[in-house]
Amino acid sequence: MRVVRSVAAMQRIALGWRGKGRVGLVPTMGFLHEGHLQLVRAARRQSRFVVVSIFVNPIQFGPKEDFRRYPRDFARDRRLLASAGADVIFYPSVEEMYPAGFATFVDVERLGDGLCGKSRPGHFRGVATVVAKLFNIVLPEIAVFGAKDAQQAFVIRRMARDLCFHTRIVIMPTAREKDGLAMSSRNVYLTPEQRAEAPVLHRSLLLARRLIVQGERRAARVKAAMRRMVRRESGGRIDYVEMVDTDELRPVKTIKGEVLVALAVHFGKTRLIDNTIVRA
Ligand code: PAF
Repeated sequence: MRVVRSVAAMQRIALGWRGKGRVGLVPTMGFLHEGHLQLVRAARRQSRFVVVSIFVNPIQFGPKEDFRRYPRDFARDRRLLASAGADVIFYPSVEEMYPAGFATFVDVERLGDGLCGKSRPGHFRGVATVVAKLFNIVLPEIAVFGAKDAQQAFVIRRMARDLCFHTRIVIMPTAREKDGLAMSSRNVYLTPEQRAEAPVLHRSLLLARRLIVQGERRAARVKAAMRRMVRRESGGRIDYVEMVDTDELRPVKTIKGEVLVALAVHFGKTRLIDNTIVRA
């Protein structure tokens, strides 16, 4: 397994792989957990060459967000990726990805405005920009993302389609702890009390699913029940509880067909997200 730090070297390797087999990319910000490793294994199953990028992307963090304190442990990530079977870790510096004079951004309109985009303005522009760069650097036939960041996956899928990237977007199910909490690098920020309360996000999604399966079609009713549960069973502060269609991510009033049920809850300074797709 090689660690590649420059864009030029990564592009040279990717060009050398042309015609020799499928290239799979798993974009990450490092501090890997089992959820990331499942994405790497999925890429491994479907590709001849697997690249995992590790880059804490400053332009997707707001000025008051956790860019500086975002957890990092490259030595541990490297060990995990060697045993998961990655061929290359692409690990560029901020200056390598955004040299002086950098001025071009990718903005996927509408899809990034609601849900997490409301409280994190500019976040998805930062994500789409860095992922577009990674696609041009690594030239992957497939790129693997986790369903926990559903809005991110939808934004990237639309970007790949709109800009005619030849990369197929693969979305893998959310990896969960035994108590249902979605795996996330940010879970390390939680105090023991917050960690004990955090699975309420998942429980509220199960409640939403149950209500819909039982026939409830009023989104407002389902969202109110979820909010009540989060407030009753935790000290978390709700950022949003929302139900949107899975095409344009627009809020729905009446549940019909496929909907994405999503929520974000703050536990102290830590903001957790989770979601599920339900078919009515
Ligand atoms: O999901 C992440 O870790 C990041 O948003 C991504 C896709 C690697 C872009 O920086």
